[in-house]
Amino acid sequence: MKSPILLALALLSASIALAGPPAPKKEGIEGKDYKWNAQEGEKIEALQKKGDAKAGKEGYEICGACHLPSGAGRTDGTFPQLAGQHTTVLIKQMADIRAGLRDNPTMYPFAKELTDAQELANVSAYIEKLCIPVDHGVYEGKDAAAQIAKGKELYEKQCKECHGANGEGDKAKFYPVIAGQHYKYLLRQMTEIRDGHRRNANPDMIKVIKPYTNDQLVVISAYQASLSMPGAMCKPKAGGKKK
Ligand code: HEC
Ligand code: HEC
Repeated sequence: MKSPILLALALLSASIALAGPPAPKKEGIEGKDYKWNAQEGEKIEALQKKGDAKAGKEGYEICGACHLPSGAGRTDGTFPQLAGQHTTVLIKQMADIRAGLRDNPTMYPFAKELTDAQELANVSAYIEKLCIPVDHGVYEGKDAAAQIAKGKELYEKQCKECHGANGEGDKAKFYPVIAGQHYKYLLRQMTEIRDGHRRNANPDMIKVIKPYTNDQLVVISAYQASLSMPGAMCKPKAGGKKK
């Protein structure tokens, strides 16, 4: 696992020297011409291809340097879990990262390389088939049970409709799977969405999250990190690795 990481780091510094990330687009969701998830350009091309998961395994290798070969990401939330994510979501997010609608300077050089529509479809198909790791980062602060219960109340009122009772999202509508995602990544995304830094986010979701206090972001992230999707999770390894 060491060499892909070194390779990624080498590539990373090389590509930063050549071309840094795009200037963050200010318009995004707030620009008057921005249409959330417009079905056009390279995104629609990749969406229309049938992904070949087997072929995607090879393309995923470089991604695994950060997101790990299992697609589990890191429990500290620096790299999100990707395993089991819908192909539609993966393709949209990759296109948006490339377009400068999400600030992701770490990954930008890699997103920039994956422009071939068929290859993007393949890698996405491969990731979608990976089981969702069970040992992801969860909320470990005070009163976890009480905080999670508060988060559940909010989630069921304001998020379940799109992200589903078990965090399964909706493939056809580009709503992400959030089950098995790391608490710290979730909290970071929730904060970015509230504060307008994730400029590709769904406008109806932004309306809901905008008024949240920091405490509410914590409890809702704690609850999301507690979700699991029956049938899609990896089998816990008996005596396996500890987090
Ligand atoms: C150098 C490390 C690195 C590499 C290599 C990398 N990523 Fe990422 N990726 C990240 C980071 C960091 C984030 C989270 C950024 C944030 O917090 O918004 C991310 C986020 C993502 C997301 C958004 C996840 C979500 O839940 O919305 C997708 C999709 C993704 N990466 C796919 C890929 C694919 C496919 C590859 C290989 C072509 C890849 N990444 C390679 C670091 C990396
Ligand atoms: C109208 C449907 C909708 C509602 C309501 C909604 N979301 Fe979302 N959510 C989305 C979509 C679509 C995305 C993907 C971002 C994008 O590209 O628009 C997303 C992304 C996210 C992400 C980032 C996931 C990732 O992998 O990076 C989190 C976390 C999230 N939503 C949590 C919530 C929470 C918590 C609520 C309730 C407070 C909520 N959402 C309400 C549709 C919705």
